Amino acid sequence: MGNFLAGKVVAVTGAGRGIGRAVALAAAAEGARVVVNDYGVSIEGGEPGSEVAESVVKEIVAAGGEAVAVADDISTMAGGQRIVDTALARFGRIDGVVCVAGILRERMLFNMSEEEWDPVVATHLKGTFTVFRAASAVMRKQEGGGTLIGFTSGNHQGSVAQANYSAAKGGIISLVRSAALGLHKYGVTANAVAPVARTRMSANVPMELKEIGEPEDVAALVVYLLSERARQEKITGQVYTVAGPKIAVWAQPRELRAGYVEGAWTPERIADFLPGTVGTDPMPMLARLEEMAAAAAAKARPNA
Ligand SMILES: NC(=O)c1ccc[n+]([C@@H]2O[C@H](COP(=O)([O-])OP(=O)(O)OC[C@H]3O[C@@H](n4cnc5c(N)ncnc54)[C@H](O)[C@@H]3O)[C@@H](O)[C@H]2O)c1
Repeated sequence: MGNFLAGKVVAVTGAGRGIGRAVALAAAAEGARVVVNDYGVSIEGGEPGSEVAESVVKEIVAAGGEAVAVADDISTMAGGQRIVDTALARFGRIDGVVCVAGILRERMLFNMSEEEWDPVVATHLKGTFTVFRAASAVMRKQEGGGTLIGFTSGNHQGSVAQANYSAAKGGIISLVRSAALGLHKYGVTANAVAPVARTRMSANVPMELKEIGEPEDVAALVVYLLSERARQEKITGQVYTVAGPKIAVWAQPRELRAGYVEGAWTPERIADFLPGTVGTDPMPMLARLEEMAAAAAAKARPNA
């Protein structure tokens, strides 16, 4: 065991499988006491069960670590609160929360039902809020502050057949930045991770992932972000991609180009002015539509 997280208490959602499991195991191996949350659902969010959370707790304990399972649904306020309450009751504090839990319900936007939209946004976006909300209320008052980590995706740039997932992942970035701003004065940092790693979820992606790694690569970055080393560097409000050997930082949103007019805008003046002066910022994903359509067709996934 290392000691990157010695003395810390960390809660991880979606920790029964895939990336969340690797994060929970790595955090425990680095000395953290861990709350292992997983609702134990299928990739679409059905058939809940407590086995996967309990089995990761057993793995941690067998390796000499300390962990406790919470099999609640993090898309509920009670679920988010229970994770934090369990950390306090069992381990006395909460230093880090890592919101990894997620589901997929893929459909073209024009065919997407409310049943496909709501649970995806609730699991990813509200499921990050419920845990951040409960944890930050404790972290702002405790000595040493804390660390909040959300999970986004490169897909926040847009997606052909996962508008629900993409919108939730974009929302998570704005939530993380808001947490970074609102909790700065309390010594609480907030960052987002956009992983690319081999799991049951990435096996489902309708395009070839040219840069991909293992859940353990993602776990190493998360452990660093949870550590004092990252806190000393004052890393907050950032979005990092980790894909196998690559780590990348995403740009902060900013205005690219501006133009001004004397007097009031009219549609006519804008039509004359905007294309040549303010212009557009070409969307990189648009250039990849054909490649994505071919990959979707090869995997028999929705694309039209
Ligand atoms: N794998 C990738 O390449 C990739 C790429 C981009 C983003 N992500 C994101 O990383 C995260 C982890 O993905 P993964 O590939 O490990 O997926 P996964 O399907 O292997 O694991 C997700 C886990 O979340 C749990 N979960 C789902 N709904 C829950 C709920 N309401 N409450 C508690 N637990 C719940 C599931 O039971 C499951 O064990 C997700 O947020 C995903 O969107 C993954």
